Amino acid sequence: MKHSLLCFLILLCCTNPLAAEDLTGTWESVHVAPDGNKSYTYFDLVQKADKLSGTVRFPWGDLPLIECAISGNRFHFAAAIDNARFDYEGELVNGVLQMTLRYHDGRQTPIRAERSASGFVVPPKIPLPTLHVVPYNGLASRPPMGWNSWNHFHGDVDDAIIRSTADAMDANGMREAGYTYIVVDDTWEGQRDPQGIIHPNKKFPDMKALAAYVHSKGLKFGIYSTPGSKTCGDYEGSYGHEEQDAKTFAAWGVDYLKYDWCSAFRIYTNSEMRAVYQKMGDALRASGRPIVYSLCQSGKDNVWEWGPLVGGNLWRTTDDIADNWKAMSANGFSQNPLARFAAPGHWNDPDMLEIGNGGMTDDEYHTHMSLWAMLAAPLMAGNDLRSMTKEILSILTSKEVIAIDQDILGKQGGSIKQIGQVEIWERSLADGDIAIAVFNRGDDVAKVSVPWSDLQVSNPVTVRDVWEEKNLIVNKKLETVLNPHAVLMLRLQTK
Ligand code: GLA
Repeated sequence: MKHSLLCFLILLCCTNPLAAEDLTGTWESVHVAPDGNKSYTYFDLVQKADKLSGTVRFPWGDLPLIECAISGNRFHFAAAIDNARFDYEGELVNGVLQMTLRYHDGRQTPIRAERSASGFVVPPKIPLPTLHVVPYNGLASRPPMGWNSWNHFHGDVDDAIIRSTADAMDANGMREAGYTYIVVDDTWEGQRDPQGIIHPNKKFPDMKALAAYVHSKGLKFGIYSTPGSKTCGDYEGSYGHEEQDAKTFAAWGVDYLKYDWCSAFRIYTNSEMRAVYQKMGDALRASGRPIVYSLCQSGKDNVWEWGPLVGGNLWRTTDDIADNWKAMSANGFSQNPLARFAAPGHWNDPDMLEIGNGGMTDDEYHTHMSLWAMLAAPLMAGNDLRSMTKEILSILTSKEVIAIDQDILGKQGGSIKQIGQVEIWERSLADGDIAIAVFNRGDDVAKVSVPWSDLQVSNPVTVRDVWEEKNLIVNKKLETVLNPHAVLMLRLQTK
């Protein structure tokens, strides 16, 4: 009797039309890419009356909800991380969250989320090796130069794009300018076979043949993976298959691996990163093929202190760049404290270039290139090389700017003087010359007049404008007028 009364009350409560469903719970949204891959996002929502809070769980990280608003069935919330922001707006319709997701760059996409019992499946933790020093592989004696598919193509990359990009680099002078590596970023991954061997998805019918094509153009071939079970795009990761994947990559002819933390954060803590990255460092070495090792984990756990010890040739120091002034300048101008960690074979990486992707002015792209050169940063172009303008190509291939980036001394430059919104940077070069960059970070035209002695440069013998490729008349001062966000980059001969 007691039991049937309880059942009745539960039934009444669940079917009472006056009790509006609230949003509390875990919601799952699935995106199926054209290559068949499914990627998941989870929304852990907590509703208390008209107050909403919670977490968005992406394959690469969990972000707290901000700016939540709810009114009847309609709601809005956002999630943000450094250079990226995700705005969700929608309503609850028949038990389904029907939302529009707006990205910071204006793109938008419909999203559907249904109630879910689970959330991400986290595999059991595999014990990590004890720490040791992975010997230097002898590569990247200068900052790596090349092209990476992510910044422009994101998930829309395929075999044909890589081949035509190699053709473009073969024809447009970029290879001769120093660009060497063509790196396929995330979304190439398919399934593992019963032996655990990873295969590409249908966008990449034959990785070995693709690598051979890239090699036939006198270029080198790079690929992407993660120590997690899933990449940031929710594709198959190397977790538990590190040695096997390193062997597969070597057999395909891979010369460069970008290894991205992504979902590894669900298994390991930040303080375990060194051991995690060491595992792949060892695996690459054991593969017997020289492979540039690019660590990608947004500079967590002071990676610059242990990057070389795991066999890393470069390590990301920032969150993802975006094709706008705010993001690019935040990444580039924040690198001063890390200068002493850069050296031949081991580079700080403030992320790939956005030059030519359309979100910045010509002046801003000149600043982007100059800043990366002053930083001795890797120069990985990130635009569509097959359709860029002559102006963009000339920024990317500026001989004298690249010579500063690639200077064999490998000493990262930094800011030595600030005058209002103007920053003056200096970098020492192998032949005793000094590179100077004068950046106008402000939104107004800036007039600069500084005696050389204020820059600890004894009177220079020659002063060369490296963008214009011409010597300037030498006087006792550095004098220039700069447009907003523009740069003057000089090479001084001092003896
Ligand atoms: C992370 C990296 C990016 C890119 C994407 C791919 O966000 O930082 O550079 O590799 O993953 O999913």
